[in-house]
Amino acid sequence: MFDPKDIRKDFPILSRTVHGKPLVYLDNAATSQKPRQVIQTLVDCYELYNANVHRGVHTISVEATERMEEARRKVSRFINAPSTEGVIFVRNTTEAVNLVANSWAMDNVGQGDEIVVSEVEHHSNLVPWQKVAHQKGATLKLLPATEDGRVDLSFLESIITQHTKLVSVVHISNMTGAINPVKEIGRRAHQVGALFMVDGAQSVPHMPIDVCNLDCDFLAFSGHKMLAPPGIGVLFGKVSILEKMEPFLRGGEMVREVWYDHATWNDLPNKFEAGTPNFTDAVALGAAVDYLDGLGMDAVRQHEIDITTYALKAFAELEELDVIGPKEAQDRGGLVTFTAGDIHPHDLGTFLDSEGVAIRTGHHCVMPYHRKLGLVATGRASFYVYNTNEEIDTLIQALKKALAYFAHAS
Ligand SMILES: Cc1ncc(COP(=O)(O)O)c(C=O)c1O
Repeated sequence: MFDPKDIRKDFPILSRTVHGKPLVYLDNAATSQKPRQVIQTLVDCYELYNANVHRGVHTISVEATERMEEARRKVSRFINAPSTEGVIFVRNTTEAVNLVANSWAMDNVGQGDEIVVSEVEHHSNLVPWQKVAHQKGATLKLLPATEDGRVDLSFLESIITQHTKLVSVVHISNMTGAINPVKEIGRRAHQVGALFMVDGAQSVPHMPIDVCNLDCDFLAFSGHKMLAPPGIGVLFGKVSILEKMEPFLRGGEMVREVWYDHATWNDLPNKFEAGTPNFTDAVALGAAVDYLDGLGMDAVRQHEIDITTYALKAFAELEELDVIGPKEAQDRGGLVTFTAGDIHPHDLGTFLDSEGVAIRTGHHCVMPYHRKLGLVATGRASFYVYNTNEEIDTLIQALKKALAYFAHAS
């Protein structure tokens, strides 16, 4: 096990102050902070071997290409992908879902077919499927959630049917925090011949992920939530499926031969990486993976169970607050979403900011499920490897102060 206090030294931003108070950064589900090792990797990229990849025969282009492909190998090992060909660099989770929606679903989903997502999806794993359904005359079906915001397995058989072509489900909800039983959902999808996609935006950074064990056909995640810069993410896909898919974006690099009237496609993964890739951030993602591997993903997960257990207990003592999602830390990722009676989360968040505590407030891009619960917005504190129980204490003190302030104000 690592000690988060030791790790904090690696994150320069964590020693800054906000409004004269030490920063307590609890908005990690939105984006994580970056360690020196990742920042230095970026600096090295620009200072030592910045050149376009896959194109030049000159030394620094070859070096840049090798670094990017090394990063792909690291990512591939990190999720236990069977080969690097199925690891495609994209901008983020959103782009990965759009890639599958455009390149696979537009060609394989038709009139009367069904696409299944859950009620608790982030907009990224909902809105792209809405477009496919509208354009192809297909139906978008929802797997209902249990009271604590987990996909309700009792609906698997009735919702996922012989008409289902694709099931795409969030692994850890960025709103309820619930860990969904994705293996069971995938098994049912495959039973009816449908493909299975996992939105791993909140799981890949926080727990060991093995795509072979999950048996997912696609997995999407974002680098910026796992210590890497924004603008780099990953779509993992099974090679046998990716090979049959049309490219998403077209232009340079993704072609083998081009004539004036047609073209043939490059091998995987280049077929899906049109144009100059974001190689510097890909290399930095490789450094982030090294950092997380150094901590050990089992230890990362254990730390989050510990800190979430501590936070849930502390939240339970504030009777004005209602926590959404599973009761046990074992059943959730490292985040706590809550409401505070009539106090608007934005007001609460602004008050906490004045105490140096950064949390997220709003609908967290999960508007439909907020609406279903009769909520407009919630507050969310989310944790990562560098967060400590002392920071939870600071959060709780700030929340108590805020609750007292708003009680007097009303
Ligand atoms: C569960 C989930 N899915 C998808 C996304 C979208 O990620 P990105 O904005 O990096 O594309 C997020 C981001 O918060 C998320 O939490």
